[in-house]
Amino acid sequence: MARDLTQLELLQELLPVAEENVNRHLSMAKEWHPHDYVPWDEGRNFAELGGIDWDPAQSRLDEVAKAAMITNLLTEDNLPSYHREIAENFSQDGAWGTWVGRWTAEENRHGIVMRDYLVVTRAVDPVQLEQFRMEHMTNGFSSPSGVEAGFLHSVAYVTFQELATRVSHRNTGKACNEPIADKMLQRIAADENLHMIFYRNMCGAALDLAPDQVLEAIDHVVQNFQMPGAGMPNFRRNGVLMAKHGIYDLRQHLEEVVMPVVRKWNVFERNDFTARGEEIREGLGKFLENLDAQATKFEEQRDRMLAREAKKREQRVS
Ligand SMILES: [Fe+2]
Repeated sequence: MARDLTQLELLQELLPVAEENVNRHLSMAKEWHPHDYVPWDEGRNFAELGGIDWDPAQSRLDEVAKAAMITNLLTEDNLPSYHREIAENFSQDGAWGTWVGRWTAEENRHGIVMRDYLVVTRAVDPVQLEQFRMEHMTNGFSSPSGVEAGFLHSVAYVTFQELATRVSHRNTGKACNEPIADKMLQRIAADENLHMIFYRNMCGAALDLAPDQVLEAIDHVVQNFQMPGAGMPNFRRNGVLMAKHGIYDLRQHLEEVVMPVVRKWNVFERNDFTARGEEIREGLGKFLENLDAQATKFEEQRDRMLAREAKKREQRVS
């Protein structure tokens, strides 16, 4: 049986692919400015400077949009933790170092523009937002339990994570029911998509290089996947609200995040696995079937719950 490649060997072998993909990214990425997505004329001072402090009545966002915005912004705020994970597992040399710096700088824009928008439009409580940011960043983020660090796990995880945040931002934009927020979140989602493509290409190239070893990492990540917001204040409540209203649910996770990537890597079509890879692939197949069944069950429960709530509203009106 061929031995696994070391982290250093992987990084060296994949360096030309990293170079090619950094160049591809730089040629595709569009310059954009956070200040262009914020309605500054709606801004006014808070009490400290003689104005008035935040009041819930000032927000135009409903509970779902608020929960989704806060969850997505706190996720972006936690960038130092993600930077640490990526910087520790990628090399600082050549194209790897260029990517880590560039990716971090682009990601930082997302938190900047979302916070400016939310504070200027008074869409959420700025004091609570700051308390949540402090708590979430102080706790930091580390790979979900059971997923060991290392280049392969990191690159597989961020492939799915970038795509997951893309879906979440897009649907949050729609839920805001407000054209500026929608445009801003579409802009962020387009960045996340380009980031996803970089990581997906890197992980795909690694899969060609060491099929069994890389499939093992992918399988581990898929089976232990947690949204990056796990552990933030109110994550359970907000996660439930977001799933209930179609911003990010299990069906979307399976069909818009996991499956498109798995298909792109030809996981179920390729013939370069040995017995070890075949066994992992079989386990992954079973896991995905089970996820599909769980998604169906969730959708049925949700339909019943939404129907019950609609009926209650009807009764209140009549
Ligand atoms: Fe982002």
